[in-house]
Amino acid sequence: MAFYRLLFSVAAVVSGVHALPVARNDEVQRLSSVGYGDMVFDLGGTPYLAVTTIPSAQTTGWTGSGHVPMAVIKTDSCSPTAEELTALVTQYLSSDDVLSESFLQAIYVATTCSSGATLESSAVSGLMSMGCSTILASPSFAASGAMSVEGLDQLEPGPYVASLTASGAGLSMVYRLYEDRYRTFIFGAYPSPNDESTYMPFPVNVAKYQDPLIPVPSKIYSWSDPRPFAGLRVSIKDLYDIKGLQSAGGSRAWASITPVANASAVAIQRIIDLGGHLVGKQKTAQFASGADPWDWYDVQYPFNPRGDEWLTCSASSSGGGCSIAAYDWLDHAIGSDTGSSGMISLQGVQPLGAAQDTAGVFARDPHAFAYFAKHWYTPSLHQDSSINGLEALNVPSESPLPRTLIYTPEYLPTRNPAADTLVQSFITNLTTLVGLTKQTVNLTATILDSDIQAVRNTSYRNNASSLLNQYTQWTEVGRPLVDFWAENYDGRFPPIDPARRPGWIARTQDNTTSEMYTQALAIKRSFSDSASPANTTTAEKCANSGLWLYDIGTGGLPSYREEDLIVGNLATGAATYLNYTPPYTITSGVNFCSFAGCADFTVPIGQVEYFSNVTQVMEMVPVTLSLVMRRGCDWSLFALIEALAEKGGLRAVKTGREAF
Ligand SMILES: *[C@@H]1O[C@H](CO)[C@@H](O)[C@H](O)[C@H]1NC(C)=O
Ligand SMILES: *[C@@H]1O[C@H](CO)[C@@H](O)[C@H](O)[C@H]1NC(C)=O
Ligand SMILES: *[C@@H]1O[C@H](CO)[C@@H](O)[C@H](O)[C@H]1NC(C)=O
Ligand SMILES: *[C@@H]1O[C@H](CO)[C@@H](O)[C@H](O)[C@H]1NC(C)=O
Ligand SMILES: *[C@@H]1O[C@H](CO)[C@@H](O)[C@H](O)[C@H]1NC(C)=O
Ligand SMILES: *[C@@H]1O[C@H](CO)[C@@H](O)[C@H](O)[C@H]1NC(C)=O
Ligand SMILES: *[C@@H]1O[C@H](CO)[C@@H](O)[C@H](O)[C@H]1NC(C)=O
Ligand SMILES: *[C@@H]1O[C@H](CO)[C@@H](O)[C@H](O)[C@H]1NC(C)=O
Repeated sequence: MAFYRLLFSVAAVVSGVHALPVARNDEVQRLSSVGYGDMVFDLGGTPYLAVTTIPSAQTTGWTGSGHVPMAVIKTDSCSPTAEELTALVTQYLSSDDVLSESFLQAIYVATTCSSGATLESSAVSGLMSMGCSTILASPSFAASGAMSVEGLDQLEPGPYVASLTASGAGLSMVYRLYEDRYRTFIFGAYPSPNDESTYMPFPVNVAKYQDPLIPVPSKIYSWSDPRPFAGLRVSIKDLYDIKGLQSAGGSRAWASITPVANASAVAIQRIIDLGGHLVGKQKTAQFASGADPWDWYDVQYPFNPRGDEWLTCSASSSGGGCSIAAYDWLDHAIGSDTGSSGMISLQGVQPLGAAQDTAGVFARDPHAFAYFAKHWYTPSLHQDSSINGLEALNVPSESPLPRTLIYTPEYLPTRNPAADTLVQSFITNLTTLVGLTKQTVNLTATILDSDIQAVRNTSYRNNASSLLNQYTQWTEVGRPLVDFWAENYDGRFPPIDPARRPGWIARTQDNTTSEMYTQALAIKRSFSDSASPANTTTAEKCANSGLWLYDIGTGGLPSYREEDLIVGNLATGAATYLNYTPPYTITSGVNFCSFAGCADFTVPIGQVEYFSNVTQVMEMVPVTLSLVMRRGCDWSLFALIEALAEKGGLRAVKTGREAF
């Protein structure tokens, strides 16, 4: 089971009072080289990467030896004063987590002023008073009290490392290296300096914990980039191809028979085209199987920063989910789900069931989530009906809010009464803050009373669903892997996790025909159409669509990464398995949209206490709800999420032990 999860945060970085920053004279301590020759170094106790193989700019006007950390600043003033320049440096420092005082040892001053710019020596002295020993000026300054050098005006402002020789200097872009303490990544990555669409793996770990290091660029580099995702740091689930990087799908056996990707998945290329910056590939349950934490053998299950740090991160996109809960330096993580509305093509993505997969994004802030989703999902990339078997997706430009809240008590079990208090408060807020009318419906009875077989008969529907999932995966991944292994390793079966092993040993999908697949698609279509009047416009459908709520999460109980801690608490109801089907319901809520292609997004609504069997104290676990509307009504859900956020009915989450 995999799902979208919307985890928010406060990105408050602004502080009111700024003392004059002072350059720290830390030396560049070379730690190692990456395979391609780029330099990993320590500066004042923080690790960085400098792209020294291809400097971003060169100048002959500055000579010497060694590596000098420096900052490039750009003023709009034609005659900047000392106060203006030091205020600019202070602003850069407070808006970026890569630039630090240690980079202020040299400063290159550029200007946007088109003619007659001057850099007075008083301004230069002002910068020197911060402890900066070298001030360089752009040739745009007709007169200047600093050394004027050619060749650097093309640089974006931000931190650099200058490598000095007797014949000149090369200025290299700098990435800060963050430690992946929660082990959510497989490896970090950064773009080729020649081509922002090709990535290079960053294969360096922290020796102390063996955690991966993840390179992130200065935010300042992208300030002049007008594209909507400029400056956003995005991590990618390891089911998606990224040009230049190895895809593994959570399987070292699969990686060993799969070449490095020579193109990015179209959904990922779109993020790059919109200006987003990819920072690395993240852990996935093997072949997106959605295995429990204790059934991850090939790759270690990631850690969740919430509560006792021993909770599940949920299913196949757990690397992405936990990283957004853990790291302020990461803006978004891309996951995937079999909760498909087919909003974006999955070309270039390892399939679970091509007909039911979809891509989703994690965020900490409701507005940031809606912003990303609305720019990313675009009609030209809608998944084709031939793949998902559904009516063509027609997403209206209008985004009417739903009018009715469809409350199905049997799908909102109150396993922890404290969580139920939050659920009821959220429901009240939907009625008071955004004007929905609550209507209580017995969904179980509605389903059982249907005259459509695909709706009424759960085993009929489940049979079609599992056929759709297993057939594509077997054809495109399982059979090629199993056959390759047998041929190349004396008839052996590949070492894979138990989630897929029995089915692939039995080759249960070998006799599935494309006719059977087509039949299963028709069953899916029949179920999906039953939820949508066929001949209304999508805008009408969305205005008339109710909003349905269910709990994809844990009902306010801990779900540990260790199975014994769940089993030992089942009798008292103090812990839960993740995949929970409430009693008296026909199927768990998560199964609806993967089959019907409706829109399904998960939001955090609060947190409740639990006694941790790991830390032996009370800890907090987040409570979430999933919001569902008809197929094609994703924009209405984004509008609802934004409207709720504006009125205090949804809040950003923090990173770390507690979400709120
Ligand atoms: C990428 O590799 C695939 C399979 O190896 C090949 O068919 C395709 O032509 C390659 N594409 C490019 C752009 O090189
Ligand atoms: C409901 O809205 C109020 C603000 O009107 C807020 O204080 C409360 O936390 C909200 N409840 C939930 C569960 O979000
Ligand atoms: C909902 O409908 C089911 C099936 O008809 C029935 O068993 C159940 O008692 C109903 N629940 C309620 C709360 O009426
Ligand atoms: C429901 O579907 C299953 C599997 O296709 C079938 O065996 C069973 O007869 C169906 N039940 C009814 C009541 O139609
Ligand atoms: C597939 O069909 C063949 C031929 O009828 C049969 O021998 C084999 O057992 C079937 N495989 C499975 C997994 O059902
Ligand atoms: C499962 O679905 C396939 C394809 O629609 C069909 O051929 C098969 O009979 C179904 N099995 C059951 C038990 O319904
Ligand atoms: C919608 O479809 C139904 C059933 O096919 C038909 O009776 C009805 O006239 C259609 N309505 C419109 C507005 O086209
Ligand atoms: C968890 O802690 C509670 C309270 O000490 C205890 O009763 C329970 O047995 C523990 N559960 C497990 C699985 O250790």
